[in-house]
Amino acid sequence: MARTALVAGNWKMNFDHFQATYFMQKLAWLLRDAHYDFDDAEIAIMPPFTSIRSVQVLVESENMKIKIGAQNVSEMSGGAFTGDVSAEMLEKLGCSYTIIGHSERRKYHPEDDVNLVDKVRATLAAGMQPILCVGESFEERRQGIELTYATNQVADVTRDLSAGQARRMLVAYEPVWAIGRGASATPQDAQDAAAAIRRHFAQAFDEDVANDVRILYGGSVKAANAMDLMAGPDVDGFLIGGASLDPEEFSKIARIVA
Ligand code: G3H
Repeated sequence: MARTALVAGNWKMNFDHFQATYFMQKLAWLLRDAHYDFDDAEIAIMPPFTSIRSVQVLVESENMKIKIGAQNVSEMSGGAFTGDVSAEMLEKLGCSYTIIGHSERRKYHPEDDVNLVDKVRATLAAGMQPILCVGESFEERRQGIELTYATNQVADVTRDLSAGQARRMLVAYEPVWAIGRGASATPQDAQDAAAAIRRHFAQAFDEDVANDVRILYGGSVKAANAMDLMAGPDVDGFLIGGASLDPEEFSKIARIVA
C-alpha cells in the first residue's frame, strides 16, 4: 500500500495565539486560492501548546484538510506533574501527531531513551501517531557513522514495541547540522538515511511494518529544494521548521509534495 506523504510544519516556540490565527487565515486563503484539495498528502501544523486550540478552531471553521500535532507530550497520564501536558489532553484538542525526541529537546531538556519510549507509548495509547526525531550531529557525520547513529536512535526507542505499535510510527530524519542553517542535506543523504531506517524496521519487525512506517526528512527544507529532497523513494515527506512560519512558503512546499 502506498504511503501518504506528510508535510508537517513545526512552529517551534513561535507565534502567540493571535499570530497563529492570522497565519491559519492566510494559509486557508492561499490553499483555497490555489484550489488545492490535498488528496494525495497530509498537511499538518505543530504549534506551541498555547496555540493548538486557535489552530484547531480555524481548521474547523475554514474546513481545512489540515492535521494538528504537538511538539512534545508527557509520558505521564496525569497528576502532579507541573508544566506537563498529557497525550489524552492533546488528543481531545484534536491532535493527530506528537513530535518526540526533537534534537532541540534532547539538547535543552533531560530527555533520554526511557522517557522517549514512554512518550511513544503514551501517544499511541491515546490514538495519535508519534513522529520520532533522529539524526546525527556534525561530529558523527565527520566520523562517517551517521547511518548507524540514526538507526541506533530508532532502535533505542522502538525495540520493545509490538509490530502493531511500530507500524503506526513516523520517523523524522533530521541531521542536526542541517537544522536552521539554510543548507539542507543532499537528496541522496536524505534517501540513504530513510532507506537505512526503513531497513532497520524490516530487520527488527518485518517488511510490512517497514513498508508502513513513514519517514520524513527535516533540516532547512524550503520550496526551492523540496522537489529534489522528495525524489528518494523512501522519503515520505518533511518536518519543516523555519519555512513553516511563512504561509506562502509553506503552502508552496505543500503543493510540491501533494
Ligand atoms: O522540526 C524541524 C526541524 O528542526 C527543521 O528545522 O526547517 O528550520 O531547518 P528547519
